[in-house]
Amino acid sequence: MIVEPRVKDFICTTAHPTGCAENVKNQIKYIKSRGKADGAKKVLVIGASTGYGLASRIAVAFGYGADTLGVMFEKESNGKRTATAGFYNTRAFEKEAEKEGFYAKSINGDAFSLEVKEQVIETIRKDMGKIDMVVYSLAAPRRTTPDGTRYSSVLKTVGQEYTNKTLVLKDNSIAEAHIPAATEEEIYNTIKVMGGEDWIDWMQALTDADVLAEHVITVAYSYIGPKITFPIYAEGSIGMAKKDLYRSCDVINEKFRNVKAYVSINKALVTQSSSAIPVVPLYITLLYKEMKAKGLHEGCIEQMQRLFMDKILGDGQVDENGFIRMDDWEMRDDIQKVVAENWDAVTTENVAELADIDGYWEDFYNMFGFRIPGVDYSADVDIL
Ligand code: NAI
Repeated sequence: MIVEPRVKDFICTTAHPTGCAENVKNQIKYIKSRGKADGAKKVLVIGASTGYGLASRIAVAFGYGADTLGVMFEKESNGKRTATAGFYNTRAFEKEAEKEGFYAKSINGDAFSLEVKEQVIETIRKDMGKIDMVVYSLAAPRRTTPDGTRYSSVLKTVGQEYTNKTLVLKDNSIAEAHIPAATEEEIYNTIKVMGGEDWIDWMQALTDADVLAEHVITVAYSYIGPKITFPIYAEGSIGMAKKDLYRSCDVINEKFRNVKAYVSINKALVTQSSSAIPVVPLYITLLYKEMKAKGLHEGCIEQMQRLFMDKILGDGQVDENGFIRMDDWEMRDDIQKVVAENWDAVTTENVAELADIDGYWEDFYNMFGFRIPGVDYSADVDIL
């Protein structure tokens, strides 16, 4: 089949198997080029198939030489429709890892469920013994708790409705986004989905099953960003969930004596999850422009290389809130000053000049395996 991108709003409904594999290989190449280090040896990555989780998995496998078990929620191909990008990424990752002699298995299922937790524990027992690192990188729209209750998360403000500029992805124009305030119930549900309860549940289940090593590191990801994005992110419904994640990090550190839990505040990047947040894509394009101009731009893989090699293995430096700051370059005063000025100035007419629209779309298509240099998109591919 010839696979072409089919873009609908902030999602692409097709994925290219060869392109996804190439994308994974490029990330591996980057990690290898930065050298090895002695870190964790058996790593569980929850949310391992795209974005930050995939980059984490690649960084620990090819940087530390770790065996990895990945958990993701992806769709296989039915022969007519392509699989999701995360499915092809995972298959490519496993193949490359095995070539180098690293164990790499993946469980495709709902990480919030008891069944998947049990499956993971069984696999660890059978194949890995004990694990010494847990990366928690889930970004999910909904969660069903073990009692059968379904919760959906929302991307809304807290308090008052919020209006600001946004990038209209279908034609790259600038418009106003009106973001409604979340109800109490919506905030509660968003916390249930994207907060830290399930992270604690995982650490508890792994502890109860006695599959954690004597010293374990666990890390989950969050975002803070500048004032412009506060109403929709840090102080919005998702921000309330992230506050719960921070509290959960403290709970894990207090409850499990053998575990050191971190929250890493990562850089704003184009991923399947961030594309769905209003206002944020415009901020990302302005940010990319300035960070690229200053030679400071990083993608998921560069961020995770720095996290696992320099921060976690290095001095383990955290800020006054106990966070690892991978947004250190993004939040530099000189970067934020220009981004804020351009935010005020940006219009449909000058957006191509002030913002890195091409960079945004390049990342977007690349996520689904398209527009990857060296891939022959006119060739027939097996989508199964
Ligand atoms: P993503 O959408 O690329 O990845 C999400 C991962 O979670 C995928 O592997 C997906 O298969 C998996 N997943 C989703 N629901 C699942 C379920 N029910 N069971 C098992 N796996 C499931 O997202 P991204 O952006 O990499 O986000 C990961 C974390 O990083 C999130 O906590 C996000 O808030 C955080 N973050 C993202 C930033 C960004 O700009 N993209 C910035 C800073 C933090």
